[in-house]
Amino acid sequence: MSESGKRTSWQERVISIAKERAREESLELWGRSSDEEPPFNYRLEHLRAVVRIAEGLALKLGADLEIVRAAAWLHDLAKEGITELVEDGHGVKGAEEARRILERTDFAKEKIDAVCQAIAEHVGLYRDHPVEPLEAAILWDADKLAKLGAISLVHFLCLSPSLSRVTAESLLGEGRRWLGLQAKMVESMNTPLGKEMGRERHEVVRRFYEQLERELKGG
Ligand SMILES: [Fe+2]
Ligand SMILES: [Fe+2]
Repeated sequence: MSESGKRTSWQERVISIAKERAREESLELWGRSSDEEPPFNYRLEHLRAVVRIAEGLALKLGADLEIVRAAAWLHDLAKEGITELVEDGHGVKGAEEARRILERTDFAKEKIDAVCQAIAEHVGLYRDHPVEPLEAAILWDADKLAKLGAISLVHFLCLSPSLSRVTAESLLGEGRRWLGLQAKMVESMNTPLGKEMGRERHEVVRRFYEQLERELKGG
């Protein structure tokens, strides 16, 4: 609740918290002080990609746009650092935090459970059973689609120097290592549209590394 007693606009609040958290994570990653701007804000770029994809899927598949939008902005709130490859409890923890945030805004009370469910379920790079309901399925697909395609290459190439020194060869090796995992992500997509988009995006990534390898060999 704001000082005037009026409930805060949920979109404003959600986006501002997500941006603030993303900035903190990026500054720590790049070893910059709070008065600087990080050279690349991976988390914010990732969130924007997930929101774009999730909104597109929601519109095409007839899902509740407010639930999907809120869940997409808040889904990685509890993620502790970028290098954490093993999926942890950030889904459940993030859902609890999202509930506390949304309850203090004008977000529809009856939709909060659905946002929390989607956030709690979004973790993991592949799964053996589909996520339900539709809004949760869409967040899962959008989060994984953001790790595929041309946008994933931009994220990977810009983020990598914050983690270690890179060369074209090291990026090729690391990128190719991810290809197998990305194929499993595509096969785990919940919605047929997500799977179709995943296949297209995976092919873009595969061809990029194929071409990079050819060029590095002098071809
Ligand atoms: Fe996540
Ligand atoms: Fe994510």
